[in-house]
Amino acid sequence: MKENSLAPITSNSLCQELKIFGSEEVDLSLNINNISYSLKLEPRVTLLDALREKLGLMGTKKACDRGECGACTILVNGRRINSCMTLAVMHINAEITTIEGLAQDGKLHPMQTAFITHDAFQCGYCTSGQIVSAVGMILEELPKSEAEIREKMSGNLCRCGAYPNIIAAIRDVLEEMEDAAI
Ligand code: FES
Ligand code: FES
Repeated sequence: MKENSLAPITSNSLCQELKIFGSEEVDLSLNINNISYSLKLEPRVTLLDALREKLGLMGTKKACDRGECGACTILVNGRRINSCMTLAVMHINAEITTIEGLAQDGKLHPMQTAFITHDAFQCGYCTSGQIVSAVGMILEELPKSEAEIREKMSGNLCRCGAYPNIIAAIRDVLEEMEDAAI
């Protein structure tokens, strides 16, 4: 399951480090897709809103904005989180990966390629979250069965019902990984 974090900022050291006083804007930098971004924002701004509205990284989608759909899934230090459920200021020392950071040297990530090959989307609104979540799931622990894939991807909803093709795409990547390991 994904980690959600809507905990209030309770760390005094974080407040001191960022000079957080009430709702005043603070200066901070975030490491996203191996790029350091400097920005100024109110402590109450979610990581999702910082990505989309402050940095223009629109690949991460906002749908429910309350931790229910997974459209906003990103990786923080290699683990999946719903970025609508956590504050940007809580991640100043983290490595953040969004859908924009998966392709390398102009080449799509194998999970992105598999989603295209298997036509694993219809409207596409959930797709970036599905792909990032699938990549995160594999980084966390390789699933051993289709049932386990479904369980571990259950935090990502698809209102178009593209689930069979999404699962097929993920299985394809896992099989390629197995073949490569032989
Ligand atoms: S937009 Fe974050 S979980 Fe739905
Ligand atoms: S492809 Fe439309 S919500 Fe998933």
